[in-house]
Amino acid sequence: DKGGFKHYMLKEIYEQPAVTLAAFEGRINDGLVDESVFGEQATAIFDQVKQIQIIACGTSYHAGMIAKYWMESLAGIPCHVEVASEYRYRSVVIQEGTLFVSISQSGETADTLAALRDVQDQILASLTICNVPGSSLVRESDLNLMTKAGPEIGVASTKAFTTQLVALLLTTIVLGRRFKLTEDKEREIVLALAELPSLIERSIAMDGAIESMSQSFAEKHHSLFLGRGTLYPVAMEGALKLKEISYIHAEAYPAGELKHGPLALVDKDMPVVAVAPQNDMLDKLKANLQEVSARGGELFIFAGSTQDVQPGEGIHVLGMPSMPQILEPIVYTIPLQLLSYHVAVLKGTDVDQPRNLAKSVTVE
Ligand code: F6R
Repeated sequence: DKGGFKHYMLKEIYEQPAVTLAAFEGRINDGLVDESVFGEQATAIFDQVKQIQIIACGTSYHAGMIAKYWMESLAGIPCHVEVASEYRYRSVVIQEGTLFVSISQSGETADTLAALRDVQDQILASLTICNVPGSSLVRESDLNLMTKAGPEIGVASTKAFTTQLVALLLTTIVLGRRFKLTEDKEREIVLALAELPSLIERSIAMDGAIESMSQSFAEKHHSLFLGRGTLYPVAMEGALKLKEISYIHAEAYPAGELKHGPLALVDKDMPVVAVAPQNDMLDKLKANLQEVSARGGELFIFAGSTQDVQPGEGIHVLGMPSMPQILEPIVYTIPLQLLSYHVAVLKGTDVDQPRNLAKSVTVE
């Protein structure tokens, strides 16, 4: 049942205020995260964790990349992240005290499951962040945190991703307590989370403006997505969405890498999307965007401040609501989902069932 929406994907995008709330409500006690929701052995296991190894594929991998920034900057825990299909086939060094975290919407992704099985006897313990109760990864992991997004029908993952990020933020908090995260900082993050549903709501309200913007992409063959810090994996996720449902080649770069090669590609036929929240990387990012403009590239910027990032010739700016920095990667994902959706609709592709793809990748 598409609930009156033209596609499941759009319905699932619009469900995000509700499901991101479901992903944290009931898991907070007196302003602090209740770690017993991870499972009976949670406290005993978390007390022994020395580092994190995250494994996932596709969109779930992008969630893992964002979690790495959080684990190291907020919690002070060493964290590695890798795609399952590479990790499982190379010989890896697993350090003592490693918590193996798998992230998977379906809980059935063959490579992710195989990676867990391969390292089972070398790790401290396993935790899976998953959307499907009773799935293989959930059954085979010591600890679980369900993302509670509800069934996701569209092949392109949307609400599964944003709820994974909420779950990963909760995970960062409960582990960070044992490292450098103070109780004050934890309370601050929990308060910020409470604002998430309404911030997503306000981003969804930009739908009409994003639909108009999508016309500039439908005829193009290539595009570039730029971000820095936690917004770099958001750019990767935006590029993946555009590729998989609109079949337009899209590539993401951390904006600081532009001048090391990809700038040579930029011309008026390659739209460049940038996610530019009002944070301490903004000045650096603006300098990178200037390089794009100077070469005639057309910019589409989702900006935290329309005072700091101004429209101009070939520079389109859509203002995002102001928000706590911790929420930026979650909220800035929304306009990129909507952009790829509208481009795909304009191109007339099969939005919910893109060619060559399956919802659950149970083959290698
Ligand atoms: C992209 C997408 C895929 C999945 C990937 C992993 O929109 O949905 O990239 O994220 O196949 O699937 P799960 O999360 O089920 O392990």
